[in-house]
Amino acid sequence: MQQQKIIILDFGSQTTQLIGRRVRELDTFCEIVPYNKFPKDDPTVIGVILSGSPYSVHDPEAFTVDLSQFVGRIPVLGICYGAQFISHTLGGKVEKADSREYGRANLVTIDHSNALFKGFEPNSQVWMSHGDTITAIPQGFKAIASTANVTYAAYASATQPVWAVQFHPEVYHTLQGTQLLRNFVVDICHSRQDWSADSFVESTVAELKAQLGDDKVILGLSGGVDSSVAAVLLNRAIGSNLTCIFVDHGMLRKNEFRDVMHDYECLGLNVIGVDASEKFFADLAGVSDPEQKRKIIGRDFVEVFNAEAKKQTGAKWLAQGTIYPDRIESLNITGKVIKSHHNVGGLPEEMHLQLCEPLKWLFKDEVRRVGRSLGMPEHLITRHPFPGPGLAVRILGDITPEKVRILQDADDIYIRGLRAYKVKLSGEEARRVLAAGVPADMHDGEIEVSLYDQIWQAGTILLSTVRSVGVMGDERTYEHPVALRAVTSTDAMTADWAHLPYDFMAKVSNEIINKVKGVNRVCYDISSKPPATIEWE
Ligand code: XMP
Repeated sequence: MQQQKIIILDFGSQTTQLIGRRVRELDTFCEIVPYNKFPKDDPTVIGVILSGSPYSVHDPEAFTVDLSQFVGRIPVLGICYGAQFISHTLGGKVEKADSREYGRANLVTIDHSNALFKGFEPNSQVWMSHGDTITAIPQGFKAIASTANVTYAAYASATQPVWAVQFHPEVYHTLQGTQLLRNFVVDICHSRQDWSADSFVESTVAELKAQLGDDKVILGLSGGVDSSVAAVLLNRAIGSNLTCIFVDHGMLRKNEFRDVMHDYECLGLNVIGVDASEKFFADLAGVSDPEQKRKIIGRDFVEVFNAEAKKQTGAKWLAQGTIYPDRIESLNITGKVIKSHHNVGGLPEEMHLQLCEPLKWLFKDEVRRVGRSLGMPEHLITRHPFPGPGLAVRILGDITPEKVRILQDADDIYIRGLRAYKVKLSGEEARRVLAAGVPADMHDGEIEVSLYDQIWQAGTILLSTVRSVGVMGDERTYEHPVALRAVTSTDAMTADWAHLPYDFMAKVSNEIINKVKGVNRVCYDISSKPPATIEWE
């Protein structure tokens, strides 16, 4: 049976990805495509959602789409700008609102007979964020919800399957937003809700077998979740025709190269481990500038990887663990680069390798679910993201093997501490954590999770350009501080510093200063992103 999908037309809103996530949470496959790339002749499309946009429909540069491609053919839901665009295009009226409508509002009237509002409670809270407002709707349409200030908070066609809402059902503050999207996706578009990690594994393995046949494939492993899951998936499809290359640049976490190689071997992967740390340390000697460090590491990495890849004569494909958010960022239609990625790049053209990206449609939490479905060990699946240049971007100043050793030791204490410290959660908090797939044991309605599993990412930074005075026993010390960083996030685009328990911080700080020679002070980074970034360099 062919995979059904919802198409989300992206008009550039910051919450477009969130719409995608919400639809996937309804076990329904969806694709986010640029506003002008509707796949016209695709029979698997069961519904279309038009996203919000930073533009007003009256802006000369506003994004537009030919609605006749889908209106009247398949169900359509316009959100915010999407709702205004439908009204504006089909003969309604959109005008500048007297005051920008932003924040929480309540639906004071709701047409409960309309399928979109099935199960809605009176006065349901929604989230508004728009400067324009719809002052008239097209002929043949009717209002189906309003707030105190917005007459057409939602409207629908009386004759065609078209719905539009000026609020944002995808954001958390619209309390029945998931219900509204379920009404659209399941009841109106008739999704079979058969998109799951198991079904993904089954169909992807079959597709990879058909696509790759007996071809040989090379894949660069980093120790991270994405490349590891991609490797296990490919291994299931083509077995020993997959060769993985794992380069150690010497700036991984303590014992990580050894431990991860062991994990990969246990998973039956055909892995070549390359210890190139001497080359990286030599090329980085004396370099303090963050961008220059990144460039050197990127260049060396490609060189080492290519030298190894070239030995794999007859390889036809390069596989990568690229995931959906990586692609959405690079496809960002407003043209702003938010974060540049530093994955394996620039393999020599004479190798004529084709690109294979089996995870390119998945969000991070879905990658983790796929990893579980493939039976991968939990510690590999729940591993925090780690930057390609590794500890090099967590040492301020130049890099030496000794500084890396100091940082590895301090970081090891911090990370082991995060794994060991358990927190009890119950009620809504526990449900949220379990829904995100965090491994936890339930006792009497309570779950116990480690701090490590509760946060997005943690790491230690060595401030090797700074020294401060301390006292140890009767001795004066003059050594470096380390900063601890821990953030909560869903996608690394924004992040908040994690509110770690004081007793945990006290214990870790003590242990680091007592055990790690070269460190006499520990700080905690309380900056959010933006305006800071997660990594210091
Ligand atoms: P920033 O520091 O930009 O990081 O807030 C966002 C996320 O990206 C990771 N990161 C990298 N990952 N190569 C990578 O593969 C890199 O050069 C790189 N720089 C940052 C970072 O750890 C965080 O998860």
